[in-house]
Order: sequence, then C-alpha cells, then structure tokens
Amino acid sequence: IVDIKGGTDEWLDRLGEYLVVRGWVRTCRVQSTVTFIEVNDGSCLSNMQCVLSPDVEGYDQIDSGLVTTGASVCVEGTLVQSQGAKQKVELKVTKLVTVGTSDPTSFPIQKKRATREFLRTVAHLRPRTNTFGAVARVRNALAFATHKFFQENGFVWISSPIITASDCEGAGEQFCVTTLIPRSRDDTNSPVNSIPSTKDGLVDWSLDFFGKPAFLTVSGQLNAETYATALSDVYTFGPTFRAENSNTSRHLAEFWMIEPELAFADLNDDMACATAYLQYVVRYILENCKEDMDFFNTWIEKGIIGRLTNVAEKDFVQLTYSDAIELLSKAKKKFEFPVIWGSDLQSEHERYITEDAYGGCPVIIRDYPKDIKAFYMRQNDDGKTVAAMDVLVPRVGELIGGSQREERLDFLENRLAELNLNKESYWWYLDLRRYGSVPHAGFGLGFERLVQFATGIDNIRDAIPFPRAPGSAEF
Ligand code: 4AD
Ligand code: MG
Repeated sequence: IVDIKGGTDEWLDRLGEYLVVRGWVRTCRVQSTVTFIEVNDGSCLSNMQCVLSPDVEGYDQIDSGLVTTGASVCVEGTLVQSQGAKQKVELKVTKLVTVGTSDPTSFPIQKKRATREFLRTVAHLRPRTNTFGAVARVRNALAFATHKFFQENGFVWISSPIITASDCEGAGEQFCVTTLIPRSRDDTNSPVNSIPSTKDGLVDWSLDFFGKPAFLTVSGQLNAETYATALSDVYTFGPTFRAENSNTSRHLAEFWMIEPELAFADLNDDMACATAYLQYVVRYILENCKEDMDFFNTWIEKGIIGRLTNVAEKDFVQLTYSDAIELLSKAKKKFEFPVIWGSDLQSEHERYITEDAYGGCPVIIRDYPKDIKAFYMRQNDDGKTVAAMDVLVPRVGELIGGSQREERLDFLENRLAELNLNKESYWWYLDLRRYGSVPHAGFGLGFERLVQFATGIDNIRDAIPFPRAPGSAEF
C-alpha cells in the first residue's frame, strides 16, 4: 500500500512493482477497450492514472456506473511506464474495489472549476479540490517549519490559555464565555437559582464558575511573557479569537497566532527574529513543497515563487512610523483615508508602502505613536512613541505586530492609569516587573495571513479549513 506522493521521478525506479493505491476518483474515462481512472489520495497534487482493461477483477463496477467522480476506491496493479504525455508512470490495474460510491448527480465538486465563494458553502468537501488540498499541505508545512525554526533556536513552546480574564490588546474585541444551563428547579439551595434566567429560561452560570467575566483570548502574549521571564525564549502557537465585525479578506474571528517572546532582548532583536523566522519558513516551503508551489505559481498568483525567493534572500526594509507618514504624504496616489501623524495606517497605506514604494519587499515599520498602540509597549525616550514594530508584506499588509515590552514598573503603572485600566486586575503582570524584571520583546504573526502570503490565496477564509467570520460558523 503506497501513497501517491512521490509519484513523479522516484516512481521511475519502481517500475514493475505491484502496488495498492487508495483514494478518491477525480475522473473516470471509459473508452471502448480501456478505462482510465485518475485517483488522488491527498498526499500530493498528482493523481495516479489507473488503466483498466475490461477483463480485470471488479470491472463490473465500471459497467454499473459505480466509479464516478468523488467515489473512494482501492486499486491494485503493476507500475508501468505511461504512454500518455501528462504522467511518467501509471498503474496497470488487476483489481478494483469501490469502497464508497458518490452520486454524480448531487456531488458538488465536479471537474469544472468552481468559484471559491461556492466552495466555502461546501467547506466539508472542498479539500477534495486541487487548490484546497495544496493549501492544506502548505499550511501543514508552514506549521512544521515554525516549530522547527523555534526548536532549533532554543525556544520552548508554551500553551497559552484559550479562556482568560484579561484583554491583551485592550481593543474590546473579545468573545465572552457563557455557561448556559437550565435553572435547577428541584434544588432550591442551588446557587444557580439566585442567578436571573435568560429569556429561554437558561441561567448564565459563568460568573459563578470563573468568579469573574471570562473571554476567549485575543493573544497569548501576556502569558508568554510570564514564561519568557523564567525560561528566556519561548513561543506560543495556538488559536486566538477576535470579535471584530470586519468583513474583510484579511480578518477572521478565529485565527491561529504564533507569538515568540524573547528575554534580555530589545526591539532590534525582535525585528531580527521576525526576519529570520519569516525567511526560514518561506525557504522551507520553497524547498519542500515544490509541486504545490508550482501549482500556486501557475494558477493562483503568477510569479509567487520569484517573489517569495526574494523575500527569503533580501534584507527587509526598515522605516520609522514618522518616515512612513512622510513617504505617504508625498505619494502621488490618492488615499481614501487621510495620512496624519498619530493615526493608524490603513491597509491601503500599508499596501502602498510595500507594493509601490518598495517593489514587493517586506517592510518593517517601527516606533509608532503610543496612543494608537497597546498599554504594554515600551515607551521611547521621546515620550510620544513606543518601541513597536509591524512587518508589512505585499497583498496582505500587516503580517506581524510586535514590540519591546515596558519592563519598568513605574512606567507601566502610569500607562495603566492613563488608560483607565484597573491596576488590580494586572497584578500578576505587574509582578513580572517587581521580581527580576528584564528587557524583553516579542511579536505575533497571524498564521492564516502567512498562509495567504505563501500561497497567493486572496481571501483569508480560504487559508483555514473552517473559517469563522461574521455570519459563518457552519461545519
Ligand atoms: O497586531 P496584533 O493585534 O498583536 C498582538 O496581538 C500582540 N499581542 C502580538 C504580540 O506581540 N505577541 O496581532 C498580531 C497579528 C497581526 O499582525 C495579524 O497578522 C494577525 O495577528 N491578526 C489577525 N489575523 C486574522 N484575523 C484577525 N482578525 C487578526 N487580527 C490580528
Ligand atoms: Mg497589529
């Protein structure tokens, strides 16, 4: 039993071997003397062409129309050189077993190319397409390369919690965790009975459960900081959630984030780590996912391999936020949003900087105004900016957001007060500054944005198996 994977050049060394291939039928072409079944098992983009003459065991299944697009099959036979131009080898079949049939009148994935919008409505079947199979494999390779990079560089992987009481980004975009249960009628002593019911007669028990309001995490950073200030270099890689009601091609309500946190490090170390990491994972997929990358290069974003090769090899551009504002205000292009020092860069600005001004090179912007950034960022000596950095890449815009953290207790307490944030609820975070505080820095990379950038897929909903966005929680 073999995976079709490697069914290119390596197969030529295995001519004459008897193999068993299992997978799903992409097409079945019945001709008068011979039938061709293209089988795909998801291990790679290529299909195994299976050739059957009418005398093989199980051919009656073809006669009865059971072998249609989408059906699952198990095929046995001898590997031979192919006469066709599209493949080097094929399987000369001696036995065919249809494992599961697929009604051709209702199976939604037909040979004809469907739109991505349509495929989102059949997210349970879209991995059967070339595009979604390739995206899933490259996403997997990027995840593997992520762990490989950090592990090789001495980072320890930390699991940050999904349920939390703190809002790391302070943007008020958290999903609340509720525990709805029926009121317990029989037990009058139950604490649940003192809690008001919702209109459905249910009781939200979460306050009793957690003792305070609880939310889905927007970032694992604050937790990562606690481990970085004990284990030195750590990283998280897990799901994060944002109730941003923005229906864009770059935002999800549930996305995966990679958050390294480096102890005894400043913003320059942080930028160097982000650059090395990004270059490493890009190089990894160029070397290890050649067939899928060729597919993206031809069908999804022409020239993506060349652009990624540049990313892997060239230094990133570095600009301060103030320089970026100056660059944008001198641009000939008309922007929808005004360019003013002190306001956040919009995606049209970010794309102009990396695509137009720097010809597709990633750009790191640093030293943002403190008023548009989160409370934990380290204040610069000018009193107006913080040691923050964003990495912008073409088409996607912001791929990474990071900063040096405020390690000085008095500065951090003042900032919390300025922002009217409750000092008591950050007691444990402040403790890190009371006991052995060190300069430290980190960043967060949105994993689906990386998948978008690496595959050329233009909508983030196609970069994750089951997208969660406003109005979409099916599957
Ligand atoms: O810039 P953000 O909000 O930074 C943080 O959360 C920091 N706590 C990270 C850190 O320093 N450890 O988010 C980081 C990245 C963004 O650059 C973007 O790539 C991604 O997360 N991101 C999203 N991706 C998909 N959908 C969304 N709604 C996203 N919001 C942020
Ligand atoms: Mg950001």
